[in-house]
Amino acid sequence: MKYLSAVLLCGALALNMATASAETCSFTLEGSDQSRWDKDKIEVAATCTEVEITLKHVGVKPVTTGGHNWVLTDSDDIKGLAMAGMTAGPGADYVKADDKKIIAHSKLIGGGETTTFTFPTSKLKKGTSYTYFCSFPGHWAMMKGTLTFG
Ligand code: CO
Repeated sequence: MKYLSAVLLCGALALNMATASAETCSFTLEGSDQSRWDKDKIEVAATCTEVEITLKHVGVKPVTTGGHNWVLTDSDDIKGLAMAGMTAGPGADYVKADDKKIIAHSKLIGGGETTTFTFPTSKLKKGTSYTYFCSFPGHWAMMKGTLTFG
């Protein structure tokens, strides 16, 4: 019986360690036809190793006239990134390829669509604030928020 307890305890410890070493933290963000997010702040706990974002376009506008994406950057100067995204065009989801200021981004979606994506928190520094925004032309000024880690 003592042996069994020890085995169970070891199993529980191993499970705890596995949980601590990989924790996916999930968030849902909704974008509307009024070019607004439903939340302007996402707080990622220090224990999270991966961030899972589910992006929902709750409007009806098609992707060509009122699409939304989610772009995360370490800069609060998002206008330049938005302009570069606009130049990259809809075929690139309005995201300039290989821009080092972009930490993570989703694909572009239209009304009624949902997309889920993940990125590792190893790309983030603890105790730091980041900016997220939609890079669809004209949306960046209204569709922005703050993501904090740790
Ligand atoms: Co948008």
